[in-house]
Amino acid sequence: MQSAVAPRTQLAGAQGRRAALPASVPRRSARAAAATPTARKLCLAARAHASPFRDNSPATATTMDSRLADSPPATPAPPAEPRTKSRVVVLGSGWGAVAFIKNVDPRMFGEDGPYELVLVSPRNYMLYTPLLPSAVGGVVSENSIVESIRSLMHDKGRYYEARATGIDPASRTLTCVKQFCEVCAARMDNGADVVHTDVDHTFTVPYDVLLCSVGAVSATFGIPGVYEHCWFLKSMEDAQKLRKHIGKALEQAALPDVTPEQRKKMLSFVVVGGGPTGVELAAELHDLMTEDVAREMPHILDDVSITLVDGLDSLLNSFHAEIQTYAGEVFNRSGINLRLGCKVTAVHVGKIEVQRKDGSADVVPFGTCVWATGIAMHPLVAALQAQLPAEVQGSRRGLLVDPNLRVMGSQGTIFCLGDAAVTGATTKTALPPTAQVARQQGEYLAALFSHHRLGLQEQPEPATGDLVPLPAGAKPFQYLHLGSLAYLGNQKGVMDLPFKTPFLKTLRGYLGGQTWRTLETFMQISPRTRWMVFMDWVRAAMFGRNVSDI
Ligand code: FAD
Ligand code: NAI
Repeated sequence: MQSAVAPRTQLAGAQGRRAALPASVPRRSARAAAATPTARKLCLAARAHASPFRDNSPATATTMDSRLADSPPATPAPPAEPRTKSRVVVLGSGWGAVAFIKNVDPRMFGEDGPYELVLVSPRNYMLYTPLLPSAVGGVVSENSIVESIRSLMHDKGRYYEARATGIDPASRTLTCVKQFCEVCAARMDNGADVVHTDVDHTFTVPYDVLLCSVGAVSATFGIPGVYEHCWFLKSMEDAQKLRKHIGKALEQAALPDVTPEQRKKMLSFVVVGGGPTGVELAAELHDLMTEDVAREMPHILDDVSITLVDGLDSLLNSFHAEIQTYAGEVFNRSGINLRLGCKVTAVHVGKIEVQRKDGSADVVPFGTCVWATGIAMHPLVAALQAQLPAEVQGSRRGLLVDPNLRVMGSQGTIFCLGDAAVTGATTKTALPPTAQVARQQGEYLAALFSHHRLGLQEQPEPATGDLVPLPAGAKPFQYLHLGSLAYLGNQKGVMDLPFKTPFLKTLRGYLGGQTWRTLETFMQISPRTRWMVFMDWVRAAMFGRNVSDI
């Protein structure tokens, strides 16, 4: 079960790494001297953070060193020791990846275990996405719904803060691009000659087995103007920007030179997409306006409007029919304008064009437009898919996986989970792109890797052609649906219950709202975030939200 990846072992060696240091240091110092002292400090700090020299991994560190060094090492690297561990590289720090690393057996992934684990993600935290709309509304704080990836990994492996830009399944290598601090990135974007500019920003990470859990991106369906004029709600950065923008919009609308017409327009919030993301965001906006803006800025409240637009005739189409009707009723009673059966065809400055079911067109003006129309395939996943045999791939949603979550056509070397994976033969049998599915898939793979020893063979298995054969007795992944929840505002919520009995299919109203709140607290990533979210609810109930635009 040993790797046949020659470059990795040839380059390995701690001595070689140390020898490469002096050669590259003077050059970086000279460049650093050219930058301002503050910039230099920041850049060096950022560099230290992403420094390859902090990495103990023979494979990756030497690959990076070879790019950084100007001249060959002064002393030759000692002969590489034969590798005995199987190198498992995990891409992503979201639901799927974190469920995997939290649940793997530490003995299997520890110093004496058969695996070596590396996790690569541009974000060194896991985000609890279900409370992202609440973070926009300000009822929970951003810090309360993220947990550091380093604390989640403990000593099970190494973490690299980087973005994978390419996967080469033939050589089993990832190309990654380093992440710099925002100040450095902005300086470099402006052409500043800061320390990093003399170095290649990419490095490579070899793998024996890859777990791809990079999620998906926001779908725009190529509709013109969406990227230019809309806000999104997919990441913490999106939520932070949107929250700040809403605070600014409220203050701008309250300025004395604004006419009543301008104020109405500035305070019209339009959400496109009546799926759970759009519905929960509209609900949180409603609570923010009716509870906190009403208290702090009552003079502008009458000019605030919230509109939800969807091409279909009802909200929450993945939920039970009763819930769809109920959600519409709650929104109507709350004063949220529903524009259902209206498909957005273009977005312009301050207005969207919609097409009704009967073919007629209309225009909806907005001050703020949030785009929440679902997800599309991650570009990294699309690029990998293009390298795999077309006969076994070809879904427009993601990578087709077998019952054990192995990517079809990857000879067992790549597993895929979460939003990036497509299970089942047809769209109807495929599992939905939810946190619940990603988490269970991560847990399943953790059990698979912990109970068996999956490793790379030098030759493909004759019967299957697999380079990483599936262990005998490995059970397929089985999904257990535990129900779906959504918040509708005004303390009300809905839950699709996982029971088949006709009397217990749904939970609605105030009880649904309390169930949502309780479960979203207890399902948190860690005891720390559980406590913080709980305290956020208490804080918001006692003192309200902070409507300042920080
Ligand atoms: P993600 O959790 O999205 O994680 C992807 C990871 O990959 C991230 O860490 C990212 O930084 C990393 N990454 C991205 N690009 C790269 C790259 N090039 N290289 C390396 N790493 C990369 N589902 C539910 O079941 N219930 C809910 O209540 C719910 N609420 C939601 C609310 C919102 C606002 C949103 C946006 C989604 C919600 N979802 C919910 C859906 C759920 O968040 C996703 O299904 C889930 O996050 C998928 O998990 P994942 O691991 O596939 O991807
Ligand atoms: P979605 O795919 O569930 O809903 C997108 C909505 O946008 C659809 O109703 C669709 O009709 C509409 N739409 C698409 N194009 C449009 C257009 N041009 N004009 C007008 N409307 C248009 O997407 P969402 O809500 O982002 O959810 C993504 C995934 O995350 C889903 O699997 C969902 O179940 C999950 N999720 C679950 C949550 C929960 O359980 N509480 C919360 C948020 C997300």
